[in-house]
Amino acid sequence: MGFDRDADQDGRWIDAGRFDDFSPGQMRTLDIGRIKILIANVEGEPLAVADTCTHEDASLATGSLKGDKVKCPLHGSRFCLRTGRPLDDPAEIDLECFPARLKDQRVQVFVPNKNP
Ligand code: FES
Repeated sequence: MGFDRDADQDGRWIDAGRFDDFSPGQMRTLDIGRIKILIANVEGEPLAVADTCTHEDASLATGSLKGDKVKCPLHGSRFCLRTGRPLDDPAEIDLECFPARLKDQRVQVFVPNKNP
């Protein structure tokens, strides 16, 4: 998605661990307090979205990943990890997306200040 901003007053890059530690097709979560973020390794590219399904309270990281889409374990809605858009009912609301990048073999996620 072309996100590559430096840390500034708008937010900060948070370290999410060594990229080598999770293989393609794997998901993990990063708990930053108010929000839990799902990070997926999609064919060598880190993608990050809010972990909680927008339909009900389910952790998407416990669902399944296929390409750049994650499927909710509760009612089966799939979400695009690039846009956050739900692709199936019953979810109708987009997931929040977070810029993610690799730096020195580590995954970093940009968290806006509104998500301290
Ligand atoms: S909780 Fe995710 S689709 Fe219902």
